[in-house]
Amino acid sequence: MSAIRETRVIQKGLENVYVKESKICLVDGENSRLFYRGYTVEDLTAHSTFEETAYLLLYGALPSKAQLEEFVTKIESYRPLEAGILQLIRSLPLSCNPTDVLRTAVSALGSYDPDPTTSSMEARIDKSLRILAKMPTIIAAFDRLRNQKDPIPPKSGLGEAANFLYMLSGNEPETYQTRVMDVAMILHEEHEMNASTFACTVTASTLADMYSIITSGICALRGPLHGGANEAALRTVMEVGDASNAETYVTQALAQKKRIMGFGHRVYKTWDPRYRILKKIGADLAERTGQVKLYATAVAIENSTLRHLAGAPIFPNVDSYSGLVFHMLGIPTDLFTPIFAMSRVAGWTAHSIEYLESNRLIRPKTFYVGETGLHYVPIEQRSP
Ligand code: CMC
Repeated sequence: MSAIRETRVIQKGLENVYVKESKICLVDGENSRLFYRGYTVEDLTAHSTFEETAYLLLYGALPSKAQLEEFVTKIESYRPLEAGILQLIRSLPLSCNPTDVLRTAVSALGSYDPDPTTSSMEARIDKSLRILAKMPTIIAAFDRLRNQKDPIPPKSGLGEAANFLYMLSGNEPETYQTRVMDVAMILHEEHEMNASTFACTVTASTLADMYSIITSGICALRGPLHGGANEAALRTVMEVGDASNAETYVTQALAQKKRIMGFGHRVYKTWDPRYRILKKIGADLAERTGQVKLYATAVAIENSTLRHLAGAPIFPNVDSYSGLVFHMLGIPTDLFTPIFAMSRVAGWTAHSIEYLESNRLIRPKTFYVGETGLHYVPIEQRSP
C-alpha cells in the first residue's frame, strides 16, 4: 500500500488529463484561439450558421450545398414533438426549471424511438439530430405553457436560430436578431472536453444509447460552474444595477472569497475568444435596444474585476456577456442553460462518436484512504 501511495497521482478535476486524441476542437488557452475542425470561431461566426457548423462538427468537413440542404431538411422534419412528449411537458409543474424540463423530455424521447439502441455511427448521428431538432421545440413549448400560452409549432423555412425565437414569441425575428442568435448558438456549439462533454463521453463509453448520452450532458451542464454561469453573471449585473456600484460589489465579493461569475476558465488563461465576439455584439444590441446602462454595468464589473485580479490568469469567459446578449434578445434568464444545451448537443455527439470509434470503457480509480478490517457491530451495541 505504501509503495502505491508513493506513486499515486490524484488529478482532482482531471486537470491536464487527456482522454483521447481529437480532430474536433482546439481550445488554445494560451493564445486566445478556438478552432472547430480547423476553422476559427471568428471565421465561422462571420460566415456560417448553427446548422452548417453542426454538420462540420459531426461529419468533419463543411457540407456541399446539396448536403446542407438535405441536412437542414432532415432537422426540420424532426422538429415537431410527439403528442406524448407534449403531454409530458404539460404534466410538469409550471414552476419547474426549464433545464429540468429539457432533461426529462430528452430522456423520454428515447421511449418514442422504435429502436433507440441502434448503434451504427450513422444511426447515432440520426438520433442525435432528432434530439437536436426537438430540443428548441421542447424549450419553447414549456416557456409558452408556463406563460399560459399555447405552444407554437415549428415553422419550416426558418433556420434553427430564427425558428427558436419564432416558437418563443410567435413573431418571426428580424434578420439582425436571427444573426445574433445564430452567432451565440455557434459559440456554444462545441468546446472540447468540458464537464458536460466528458459526462456524455463517459456514458458513451458504456455503449449506452444517444438519448442516455445527451441526457448525461444536460445533467452536467446544470450546475453554476458550467452551464449556469451566464445566468449567474447576468444576475450579478442586475444586482449591481449601475456602473457606479461595480467597484464596491467586486471589492466586497472578492474580500468574501466569492467568485465573479463569467470570469476564469480551466483552459483559458487569457481572453476567451468567445467573450470578445459576444461583448461586441452586446455593445451593438445595447444601443439598438436602449439598454446601454445594463451593458455599461457589465463593462464596469469587468473592468473592476480585471483591476483587482491583475496578475492572476483570470479573464472574462464566454458567460460574462452571453447572458446579457440573450437577455437583450428578450429571452428569459432561466432559458440560458437550455439554449446552451440545444447548441452544445452537436459537440456532445461529435465527441461521443469520436470516442466510440476506438472505445475503451472509462473507469478511473479512487485512492482508498479509509479503514479496513472493521467488524460488524449489532445496532443495539453501538453508542447512541
Ligand atoms: N472569481 C474570482 N476568483 C476566481 C474566479 C472567479 N470567477 N475563478 C477562479 N478564481 C480564483 C480562485 O478563487 C482560486 O484562487 P485561490 O488560488 O486564491 O484559491 C484561483 O482563481 C484558481 O481557481 P480554480 O477554481 O482552481 O480555477 P479553475 O481553473 O478550476 O476554475 C472555473 C475554473 C470556471 C471553475 C472558475 O474560474 C469559476 O468558478 N468561475 C466562475 C464560474 C464561471 O464563470 N464558469 C463558466 C466557465 S466558462 C463556460 C464553460 O466552459 O462552461
